[in-house]
Amino acid sequence: MKEIYLKQEDCLSDEDTEKLKGTFLDKSHYNILCDSEDTKVYKPDGSVLFVYLKRVLHKDVCKVAFPSLREAWAQSQNRGIAAGILPENPELRHGNRVKKAAPGFGTATRARPLKLDGTVSNTNYAQQVDSGIIGFMDRNARFPYCRQTAFTMKEVEKWKAALPFIAAVDRVFAKYAPERYKAQRAIVEKTSPDFVIGDTVFTTVTVNFNWQTAVHKDAGDYKEGFGVLSALCAGKFIGGYYTYPKFKVAADLRTRDVILADVHEWHGNTPLIGNPGYERISNVFYYRNNMYHCGRGEEELERVKNRKIRGGEPVNGPIEKLKEERNGIQKDLEKQCLTKYGFHENKDGVCTRCGVCLE
Ligand SMILES: [Fe+2]
Repeated sequence: MKEIYLKQEDCLSDEDTEKLKGTFLDKSHYNILCDSEDTKVYKPDGSVLFVYLKRVLHKDVCKVAFPSLREAWAQSQNRGIAAGILPENPELRHGNRVKKAAPGFGTATRARPLKLDGTVSNTNYAQQVDSGIIGFMDRNARFPYCRQTAFTMKEVEKWKAALPFIAAVDRVFAKYAPERYKAQRAIVEKTSPDFVIGDTVFTTVTVNFNWQTAVHKDAGDYKEGFGVLSALCAGKFIGGYYTYPKFKVAADLRTRDVILADVHEWHGNTPLIGNPGYERISNVFYYRNNMYHCGRGEEELERVKNRKIRGGEPVNGPIEKLKEERNGIQKDLEKQCLTKYGFHENKDGVCTRCGVCLE
């Protein structure tokens, strides 16, 4: 395997790298492109920045997974910094609807739309991107129980078709980053197998469609583990290079390739340029933090049934009644949040302050 040892003098300072946060990269942001052979890239401090593995996955396993994973993404407005800085007077797209943003509200990467009646929406949105989550999710305020994602639960055949691919990526991780794999395996051993993907060290996979991410660091994954990426591509295109602007190095991730990467360094993609109809399905495999708190499937189900309504009786009854009660609780929480803060803090579709689902 080729090895590249980066030098401090060839890297951007932390300060200059930070300035790129939320922006889109191009070919001026890298000097080295890994695109043809297995390569291990080391940071100036000697730690591994990434391992690029060319055609390491068997083509058949990719072929089976592609039709499944190309349908695993959805439109999302909850990706924050990776979705990029909003333009000056942004128009917020949600499906076919386009809304004007309310001036003076929100942050550089999130905005609150003006509603038709002229008032400002209580929900903030990032740029719309095509990105979904499959596998399992941990508990949060909105869903105080561990659960399957919608894709895993409802698209059973597609999920099954993706499993050999996920298992093959897991084996690559084990072989080429054994120490990091061992650390991730150790936390998996403490996690209910009902919320781990097969025999892998992953609980969750993010699936992106033709998405040029802006400069960001990944969040929500197990830090002692490692970022694991693959892509499934169709049609003709160039670009979409996975790029570390601080280190001025990039990698072209194509079908059958895997990158094992430090996703806690600033990174983003270069633009994708190609003939209409091309597809680049990029997949990020990870252990979702806090999944080790999950009980067995049955225990989590009990948590659903026995949830208390703010100190009241357990919620236990027909699903309609449960939904009705839940809506009541949500409305109260939403009101309290808005009275106190004025707006929701959107994180993965859920307000981190009150737990209201914002999608
Ligand atoms: Fe990322």
